[in-house]
Amino acid sequence: MAQLSPLIVTLDGPAGSGKSSVAHRLARRLGLRFLDTGAMYRGLTAVCLDRGIDPGREPAAVVELAGKVRMEFDWGTDPPRLYVEGRDVTPRLRDPDVTARVSDVAVLPEVRRVLVRAQQRIGESCPRLISEGRDQGSVVFPGAQVKFYLEASPHVRAKRRAEQLRQEGRAAEESQVLVGIQERDRRDTGRSEGPLICPEDAIRVDTSDLTLDQVVDRLEAHVRTRYGEAVAGPGGGRSSDAAGPGGPR
Ligand code: DC
Repeated sequence: MAQLSPLIVTLDGPAGSGKSSVAHRLARRLGLRFLDTGAMYRGLTAVCLDRGIDPGREPAAVVELAGKVRMEFDWGTDPPRLYVEGRDVTPRLRDPDVTARVSDVAVLPEVRRVLVRAQQRIGESCPRLISEGRDQGSVVFPGAQVKFYLEASPHVRAKRRAEQLRQEGRAAEESQVLVGIQERDRRDTGRSEGPLICPEDAIRVDTSDLTLDQVVDRLEAHVRTRYGEAVAGPGGGRSSDAAGPGGPR
């Protein structure tokens, strides 16, 4: 079988813009690997907290840990599970303590350098992926073939996030979620290293009035128009080198 050409698609945007769900479904439809870079920041945060490190007060300990822990995705699971030092940290990633502290970790320039490099290595070993985060099109994969930037109003994002939390059986007051989202926006856009920005060459999509499937349809159409020969056929399917992404999250 002929080797499929490299295809890196980046998907950036603020908290609650629907990136993870969109990236996961799009990866499945196109037969590409799905890289959730927020999971890496969350995984490192979980390990810090579980080892008694307070990321806000002990940045040097966080940096030291970032430099020495082994972080790996299992590409054979769907969505890919994250292991740190051989421990499956996936169940910890969305816990409230991790969500509350992750931006203390993500703001540290040395941590970002380590994780950016790790993400680039994943891209080198599997240059057929959809990579989702805040800095994927701007810093990690500036040469990506396709770049998307998803946005939605803070109120819409808070509503979605509250709904998602309720579905997971967690209490969620929309007004409180909104405050959390605005705080994360401030931190994501304000940090000096890898701030959340829309890359100049990205396709900007406002998802406020679109359903998840409508967003995925739109992005899929863009990729197929430009790189149809490099992706799986319509209706999903996988390329031989794209183990990983699968059913809805
Ligand atoms: O997308 P998420 O909510 O899982 O992201 C978790 C945190 O990690 C959030 O504070 C933003 C940060 N993050 C980042 O700084 N850079 C990325 N590439 C991905 C996430």
